[in-house]
Amino acid sequence: MQTSLTKPLLEARDIARRFGGLLAVSDLSFEIREREVLGLIGPNGAGKSTTFNLISGFIAPTRGTLAIDGENVTGASPERISKKGLVRTFQHGSLMKSMSVADNILIGTIGAVPRAERAERVRETARLLGLHGKLADIAGTLPHGLQRLVSIAIAFAARPRILCLDEPLTGLNQTEVAATLDVFERIRDEYGSSVLLVEHNMKAVMQVCDRIVVLHHGRMLATGTPQDIRRDPRVIEAYLGAEHAH
Ligand SMILES: Nc1ncnc2c1ncn2[C@@H]1O[C@H](COP(=O)(O)OP(=O)(O)OP(=O)(O)O)[C@@H](O)[C@H]1O
Ligand SMILES: [Mg+2]
Repeated sequence: MQTSLTKPLLEARDIARRFGGLLAVSDLSFEIREREVLGLIGPNGAGKSTTFNLISGFIAPTRGTLAIDGENVTGASPERISKKGLVRTFQHGSLMKSMSVADNILIGTIGAVPRAERAERVRETARLLGLHGKLADIAGTLPHGLQRLVSIAIAFAARPRILCLDEPLTGLNQTEVAATLDVFERIRDEYGSSVLLVEHNMKAVMQVCDRIVVLHHGRMLATGTPQDIRRDPRVIEAYLGAEHAH
């Protein structure tokens, strides 16, 4: 394994976040490596979205450090963190419902792509997400699953090195889930980017992730490959239940 020689893309060291009397995240250390789909899972209230907000700069850690590409970004703004190559989607409202799909994706290219190359970037991104037949459609008129793909397209139009997605599969049907997982693999394999996936759909997580971090009460309960995680007695007890252990 060359992992000890490879600098992680993102490195969180002993991060913690307190909300009043509640320690939502504590003593948490993990990394996002190049070209991987990393799953962040755990029961409701485990601290997944808080971790997501911490690494994307939307909230600052109470303690600990964050580095991207070896550069300290602890307490940095979302803008600076996105310039370092980490981009996130929002669960609601990252899409302009009254605008076309093409214009939505175009928004994601601003600041990342020279003007002359934006139209081609929009087309290529739409192809990647299977939205090429929908470019002229008004985003708000599309089915829920396609709107979700448009949100991912906006985020990936900038070609971030780390794409962070909070529960992107919620409300999608099986066909849409399969198509979205295929997109994650293409983002990794064809573009060399990494995906951080916060998700409750365990079948999908086990299928698509290279590694998984399990949170419980704000702390890391376990980390490893899907195979390791599926069999870990602590994870089964705290989160998965016995039916996932097979
Ligand atoms: N802004 C906030 N102010 C106060 N408490 C918060 C805030 N954000 C999160 N919390 C609390 O921190 C804990 C962790 O919440 P978080 O949203 O990170 O969990 P989660 O793992 O994303 O859960 P879910 O699976 O339900 O989305 C919870 O107890 C939550 O109530
Ligand atoms: Mg959450």
